[in-house]
Amino acid sequence: MSTAMSTEENIEIKKGLAGVVVDYTAVSKVVPETNSLTYRGYPVQELVANCTFEDVAYLLWNGELPTAEQRAAFEKTERSQREVPQALIDLIDGLPTDCHPMDVCRTAASWLGTQDPEADDRSGDGVRRIGLSLLAKMPTVVAYDMRRRHGQEFIAPDPERSIAENYLYMAFGDGEGSPATHEADVEAFDQSLTLYAEHSFNASTFTGRVIASTTSDTYSAVTGAIGALKGPLHGGANEAVMHNFLEVDDPDKAEAWVLDKADNKEKIMGFGHRVYKRGDSRVPSMEAAMRRTAANHDGQKWVDMYEKMQAAMDKRTGIQPNLDFPAGPTYYMLGIDIPFFTPIFVIARIVGWTAHIAEQNESNALIRPLSAYNGAAQRSVGA
Ligand code: COA
Repeated sequence: MSTAMSTEENIEIKKGLAGVVVDYTAVSKVVPETNSLTYRGYPVQELVANCTFEDVAYLLWNGELPTAEQRAAFEKTERSQREVPQALIDLIDGLPTDCHPMDVCRTAASWLGTQDPEADDRSGDGVRRIGLSLLAKMPTVVAYDMRRRHGQEFIAPDPERSIAENYLYMAFGDGEGSPATHEADVEAFDQSLTLYAEHSFNASTFTGRVIASTTSDTYSAVTGAIGALKGPLHGGANEAVMHNFLEVDDPDKAEAWVLDKADNKEKIMGFGHRVYKRGDSRVPSMEAAMRRTAANHDGQKWVDMYEKMQAAMDKRTGIQPNLDFPAGPTYYMLGIDIPFFTPIFVIARIVGWTAHIAEQNESNALIRPLSAYNGAAQRSVGA
């Protein structure tokens, strides 16, 4: 991302705020030089290998991993809040089945705000309470939205299951073949949630912080963040990745497809990153989950395509895959409809967003940058 000088005022313009450090955060740290990402000091790979998504949510919100008692209390509270009011189900039923599921998520987040008399509680505890409530309810919304588009009945949340397993259960039931019944599928899905949970000042988190900085409420901040995440340059990339895999559909055609795109200077979704320039620290863990999922779902074809596209892209441009590149085919192999890939990202990132909103509120300054004017010179209506 280049910088440019404004001719009028001789000011350096940082397009896209690239390289601009706007605040401190204690939530996570990205070190592009070493491909490292830590949540509250813990390397994300270690969290994926040793902790559940629930542990990670607790960590991001509270700064420490939970003790056994804290975990039990946290899970109990989350599981008790998964039901959504019938009015929300009716609202979803009234939305078109051809609108993007991210529009449904955004509408649901906003609607839930109208039902919460404490929506304006901007204290740390208040924001974390809202974050937990949204984390509990959004999987119910997303799973039902997918089912209704197939003409299937609502499946109520099951408080005996983890967040990952419960989501897969609400989306697919627990009949034979449902990923909810396969430990390895639940684990891959759980790990993807951990990897998607937080990533410092990315576009949607920054959007949430901008809204919080006006002293608006947390639901408004999350609703705006969902809008930012929808874009294909951000969260929407995991869907675009799978469309590309399906377009290529043959590992033997993958290299030529990549080279053709590169020749035409077209962007390939799932590659590149604003911060990481030598590789995304989250990719190895997600790639391992993708390989395990492929082994269980006869998906070697997608792994072969993944490898060939990655190698061709590396050879031609040196640009490395980001998290969306292995996440897209993993979700596809689990049987999730492509338009629901980004809503799953929402479920995970609610944690990061609200951790940042709490931090913003604790040390707030209105976020309001400047611009350099390059429009018409001053003139008069009467002239
Ligand atoms: N495919 C092909 N070329 C890419 C590319 C991609 N995915 N990502 C970056 N590039 C190239 C650009 O064309 C540009 O080349 P140029 O200097 O010859 O014009 C150069 O790399 C810099 O890209 P730019 O878009 O300016 O960098 P950025 O920091 O603004 O981009 C992204 C970051 C994420 C927006 C960008 O890499 C992208 O669009 N990736 C695809 C979408 C995606 O996967 N998003 C998910 C991010 S987690």
